[in-house]
Parts: sequence; C-alpha cells; structure tokens
Amino acid sequence: GGVTGDMAGFAAGCYLRGVRYAQMPTTLLAAVDSSVGGKTAVDLAAGKNLAGLFHQPSIVICDTDTFQTLSPDEFANGSAEAIKTGILDSETLFSLFESGDVHANIVEIVSQCVAFKAGIVEADETETGIRKTLNLGHTAGHAIERCSGYTVPHGHAVAAGLAIIARAAETLGWAEAPISNRVERALIRNGLPIQTEFSPEALAQAALSDKKRAGGKITLVVPKQIGSCALIEIPVEQLVRPRKHRRFNPRHRFEVRRASTSHPRGACQGRNAAKDGAALGGYRRNDCLPSRVGRGYRACAGWRAGARHRARQRKPLARLRGERLDLSLSAARCLRAVQSSAVHRPRQAAGAAH
Ligand code: GLY
Repeated sequence: GGVTGDMAGFAAGCYLRGVRYAQMPTTLLAAVDSSVGGKTAVDLAAGKNLAGLFHQPSIVICDTDTFQTLSPDEFANGSAEAIKTGILDSETLFSLFESGDVHANIVEIVSQCVAFKAGIVEADETETGIRKTLNLGHTAGHAIERCSGYTVPHGHAVAAGLAIIARAAETLGWAEAPISNRVERALIRNGLPIQTEFSPEALAQAALSDKKRAGGKITLVVPKQIGSCALIEIPVEQLVRPRKHRRFNPRHRFEVRRASTSHPRGACQGRNAAKDGAALGGYRRNDCLPSRVGRGYRACAGWRAGARHRARQRKPLARLRGERLDLSLSAARCLRAVQSSAVHRPRQAAGAAH
C-alpha cells in the first residue's frame, strides 16, 4: 500500500543519497496514485508527510489481482483517487464509476489513471505548476484528515473534499451543473462519503494552519466540467486580515449558513447570516458580496447570477489544465463558498443512488 511504498521510497532516496527501487502497489490507492510520480515521505509528529523527497522508482509493477484481498472500504479509498482522475481528465473514466462495472474494468481504470498521472509528472515533477491539479479535492480532504486526527482514511477524506469543491464551484458559477450532482452520485455509488462531520470553520482553520501550505497562498483546484479543471490561488492574508480602507465592525462578521436546496436563495440565508463570528474572523459583509448586490444579504439569487455574469466578462473559462486563473473574485467569497458546501446535505436524488 501507499504507506509501505512511501517509506521504502523515502529510505531509498536517502540511503547513499539515493539508490534504485521498485514500487509494487498492492492497493488500488497505491496503484492509481502514490506509486506513480516519485513522491516519498514519512510522517512527523508535527504532521503528515513532512519529511520527504522526490525519488522516482525505476519501475512500477502492479498485479491487480492483489486488489481482491482488499476490504470494500480500502478499495473505495482507491476509487476516490480514480474518480478524481476522471473529473480532471476523462468523461469515459468518470462514467465507469457512475454506471459501469468497476471491478470488471479495473485494469483499464488503473492504466488510465497511471497514464494520466505519468504525463502530468513528466511535465512538472516537483509540483510547481500543473501537478497541483492532482490535488483536486485535497484542500478540504487534507483538512478533514487533520481534523479527524488521521482516523478518516485518505480516500474517504478526498471523496468528501471532491464533493465539497464541486458544490462550491457550481455555487460560484465556475462549473457547469449538474457536475456536483454527478460527482456525488459517483462517490455514493462507490461507497464513499460526500460530506463531513467537521464544521466549515474547523476545516478552514485546518487548511490555513497546514504546514505544507506554500507561502501565503492556498491553491484551490476547481472542477469546471467532467474532464476539465482550473487552479485558483487565494492569498491567505485576504482571508485572515480585513482590508484597511474599511472600518471593521465586529458585528458584521459573516457566517454562511447551511445550504438549503429547498431554499430559493441557496446557501445564503438572509441578513441574519451576519450574526456569529466566522472562525477566521474579521470579514466584513461587503467582502462576501459583490458591490452590485449592495448591502445586506437579500439578493443571493442576484449574487449567483452576478457571479456568472462577471465570470463571463473576465477571462474565458476555456479548457485549462494547470493554468492559473485570476477570476478577481474576493478570496473571502471563494472560501465562504467552499465552507458553505461543506455543510451541504445530500440531495434526494444523490441519496437515492445505489
Ligand atoms: N498525490 C498527488 C501527487 O502525487 O502529486
């Protein structure tokens, strides 16, 4: 599995400043993700994977028969990363998890995941650009792992993270509906969660205190449609510090309420949403709303339409792989959309999926 491969790879990378090694994944998760790409690491008391290096294996050998020894939960862990690859790259791969026979097509699934990841790693081995797209669902996923003290398995945390970011992308008008519905159905069908018990505030705090966060930025990978995604960088200081030119009134802190699919205004729940502090503190109401909506929270439908309108006016959301987008949306609004998605409850249709 992934832990064994990571430890062996790390040892091989350190010993004599690097000796050759082979990866032989025996779990689906290791086969579709961790055995490919040369990331190796061990955990430190301060956090997961904190001591590590890039050291490419000389060969990866995978016998998919070993997956028959996996518990359904362990198999599902790997399915989450393969579903992630489908969202990033391939409608065909994704639809196998939506309606196909995963076990009967496992060789095809592993091959597609490995081919896709190998191409990305060849282009950007050390994750300075396009490789970051492989972290789709991982911002919230890692936060869930951290909040749970690493008792939630990686694939399950990533699954909830995929559902959260798909819902947020749809809310912000960046993704085409019904992407979140499809992602939720695929995850549920493969024994994976689409929500988490942790509060949006706790998840945001965990994401911000992530020791592996690059400098002052959080990079979100946002799905736009099945087979296409974009990277969005959010400067952290925008999330933790109010802008100077406005007076900060603590009564105006913002909390996005639980999303209600039956409520015509969706995730925003009226002016009372201004009550209660957000965990990260210090947002004014106007940070969370476009100026055209004006004060208060009354026009969420207008907000969503406005977001779509503004998105159309800016850079075309063409098929982008790894290209940075400046969508000029308030960082606080991005975070709030992600947070509000984190408290989403499954829709009837998604819950009914088998
Ligand atoms: N698991 C993501 C990567 O290898 O970059």
